[in-house]
Parts: sequence; structure tokens; C-alpha cells
Amino acid sequence: MLDNEKFITIHTNPIDLFKIWFELAIKSETNNPNAMTLSSISDQYKPNSRIVLLKYFDNKGFIFYTNSNSKKGKDIAFNSFVSLNFYWKTQKKQIRIEGEAEIINSKDANEYFNSRPRESQIGALASNQSAVLSDRSLLIKKTDEIRKKYENTEIPRPNYWNGYLVKPNLIEFWQEMQNRLHDRVEYKKIENKWVSNRLFP
Ligand SMILES: Cc1cc2nc3c(=O)[nH]c(=O)nc-3n(C[C@H](O)[C@H](O)[C@H](O)COP(=O)(O)O)c2cc1C
Repeated sequence: MLDNEKFITIHTNPIDLFKIWFELAIKSETNNPNAMTLSSISDQYKPNSRIVLLKYFDNKGFIFYTNSNSKKGKDIAFNSFVSLNFYWKTQKKQIRIEGEAEIINSKDANEYFNSRPRESQIGALASNQSAVLSDRSLLIKKTDEIRKKYENTEIPRPNYWNGYLVKPNLIEFWQEMQNRLHDRVEYKKIENKWVSNRLFP
């Protein structure tokens, strides 16, 4: 399955190449092939990173879900430019993405929220993500309260729990090759067209 003897095949559309690599990763990674590092910039101009899960992608970009009141949510409200990074150890491949994040429409977010397991929905309501939790028992208590409140009814998506679309303006594909002569192909969006270049490793 590992095909790193060959150079990266350049596709006109980097999303087509992303799809090929992502499908390889789904087959070979045992855990969370859709895990990606999301980096954002705080209002103090400090970068910070964490893992989120990629839930959807197409030519428009890459979607993840989170709490808009979290640290990352506040960062993105301050500066919508973010970067994403995938590293698939089994494939010896990395993808770096730079782009701008925007909150997706509530219809699509509701649809995704409604498709989630009930306990995950309860967790989303119970967690004041990134705030100080003085005692873990408070979180458990809150989930019990929410479970009781919504007994036998649908749990509505809280308005602070949102999907974010990262619209890419740069996508770099990197693959490990022999003797550290790794292969890199960078795509930049210029006047709405993708322009690709090979980079020195
Ligand atoms: C494998 C994995 C998947 C995760 N997926 C998400 C996710 O999709 N959304 C999310 O908000 N946090 C996710 N997290 C938790 C985040 O890494 C992070 O702890 C949390 O979002 C708070 O980040 P912040 O304080 O920087 O906002 C995930 C963590 C791991 C390790």
C-alpha cells in the first residue's frame, strides 16, 4: 500500500490529491485518520495548536466542529487565518493547509449535530470548553441535569457549538522518500486558480 518510491503525482486540483491520500490513510491508520492539528493565533498574537477531527471536505474546504467559546473559537473570532496539519505515520505523508476559517450555516451544523450519538450531544451542552473546571464532579452533575431536562425529547444544538469551514489558500503535500530526498508539492491559490510547485525538501 505504501507507494513512496514514486514522486507525488501532481493533480490540477489539490483536493483530488487530498482525497487519494486521505483514502490511503483511512485504510492504513488504526486510529483517527481524520485527526488534524489546527493552529490558531490568540489576541496576544501567540500561536497555539490542538487536534480536531475533520468531518467533511470538498472543493470549498475542510470542516471541523467545536465550541465557539473555547480558546480556539475565540482565537478564530479574533483572527480567522488558521493552519491545519495531517501526519499519517503509516503512509509517511504530511499535508499542510493554510486558510481562512468561517462558521458554517446553522442548517448544516444542526444536521451534523443531530446525527451525533446522544451522549456526545449531552457532552457538547455540558462542556464549557476551555474554561476552568474546579471539580470534575460538576461536569458529571451537569450531564445528569441535561439528560433529565431533555428526557424523551430531541437535544437542540447549542448556538455556541459550530462547524467551521477552513477555506484553503495553500496546500502542501509531503512524502518521505529515500535518503531524506523527500518530495514536496505546494499548491497556492492565485486569482482563484491553484498553481503548483515542487519544493526542495
Ligand atoms: C483525537 C482527538 C480528536 C479531537 N477532536 C476534537 C474536535 O473535533 N473538536 C474539538 O473541539 N475538540 C477536539 N479534540 C480536543 C481538542 O484537541 C482540544 O483539547 C479542545 O478542543 C480544546 O481546545 P482549545 O482550548 O484550544 O479550544 C480532540 C482531541 C483529540 C486528541
